[in-house]
Amino acid sequence: MIHIPKAEYSRRRKALMAQMEPNSIAILPAAAVAIRNRDVEHVYRQDSDFQYLSGFPEPQAVIVLIPGREHGEYVLFCRERNPERELWDGLRAGQEGAIRDYGADDAFPITDIDDILPGLIEGRDRVYSAMGSNPEFDRHLMEWINVIRSKAHLGAQPPNEFVALDHLLHDMRLYKSAAEVKVMREAARISAQAHIRAMQASRPGLHEFSLEAELDYEFRKGGAKMPAYGSIVAAGRNSCILHYQQNDAVLKDGDLVLIDAGCEIDCYASDITRTWPVNGRFSPEQKAIYELVLASQEAAFAQIAPNKHWNQAHEATVQVITAGLVRLGLLEGDVDQLIASEAYKTFYMHRAGHWLGMDVHDVGEYRVGGEWRVLEVGMALTVEPGIYISPDNQQVAKKWRGIGVRIEDDVVVTKQGCEILTGGVPKSVAEIEALMAAARVQAS
Ligand code: GLY
Ligand code: MN
Ligand code: MN
Repeated sequence: MIHIPKAEYSRRRKALMAQMEPNSIAILPAAAVAIRNRDVEHVYRQDSDFQYLSGFPEPQAVIVLIPGREHGEYVLFCRERNPERELWDGLRAGQEGAIRDYGADDAFPITDIDDILPGLIEGRDRVYSAMGSNPEFDRHLMEWINVIRSKAHLGAQPPNEFVALDHLLHDMRLYKSAAEVKVMREAARISAQAHIRAMQASRPGLHEFSLEAELDYEFRKGGAKMPAYGSIVAAGRNSCILHYQQNDAVLKDGDLVLIDAGCEIDCYASDITRTWPVNGRFSPEQKAIYELVLASQEAAFAQIAPNKHWNQAHEATVQVITAGLVRLGLLEGDVDQLIASEAYKTFYMHRAGHWLGMDVHDVGEYRVGGEWRVLEVGMALTVEPGIYISPDNQQVAKKWRGIGVRIEDDVVVTKQGCEILTGGVPKSVAEIEALMAAARVQAS
């Protein structure tokens, strides 16, 4: 299995600590276990920031980073070994494992955190934490601070500054290392295979969930624990619902199906959308819209390179899509004016992409100092233009209504431009029709 090597977690912690102000401490909790219903839990997914700094996969844990601490800078609070609980729920690293396998300098039982952590905070001027994102943890933090305050008459010094960790950490996460790109390539490869399998399985009379099952099969077979987000399998008019997730309608002859799905490998997401005809042949209208979206995506790729800014790719898609909609008679007027008045938003109402990484909509600022961020090597993003013609749009000829097309790929900025991670799924009309025709011949 391709994964982030242990040494990289250590590098990340050191890089973060090097950016922290002198005499400070950083504290981050693991994700809580989420209850699904009664005593059934959701599949556990570690918090992305916590994972980024530790690779530690368990709940009920807290990372503490204390630059310059004599007895070790990386302290991990985690669950103790417990043969009875491990019999039911699985192995735990325990404190020994935290040190041996996860590189902690020092580890304590999570049940001792109230006794130990105030002593680690005491005397530090600043506390870095993800303030506001976990109210329960914020409350605990204040309790620990109050323990120190209550001892002020004994000379204890509470910190006097709280700093949001996000700025430092999320900026680090925005730049992907070689190891991260390798993991993202693997997630992309498996997701590409999943889309191909769904294309090959597509037949009128099946359901949207039939294709979702094909995706899930490839995700799990490839070693992904779960999809990076709820898979969207949207046939016919459902393709015009941007975050459709019901996935239970019948696939009808003559309709398109839009699939937006990607798996997660070692907590790194992939995010692919393909749209194809259920029966394997595009109608003239479907083909016209599809090829317009594809042309806009190609124009966007050309705008992704170091020194180009974040919005240039989006602007390129708006330009191509608006001009194309005029050419097809779906919009009327002057292209520049239609762009200025945002008339294209009736058909293309979202942005061309987002940062991609441990979170599908990854962290990182899109603007810096009020200006669009300039792209740099190692930034990963999606490119996902779309056109959605509402089934209820009375302004356009009937033949166009209910067509929804999105095409989405994942890219990493390179010195020369960008590397497309998800290029393994067919994309041109000819390629898709050929793949689907071959699958039919094989099946018959
Ligand atoms: N799958 C959500 C998105 O494409 O942004
Ligand atoms: Mn997507
Ligand atoms: Mn996306």
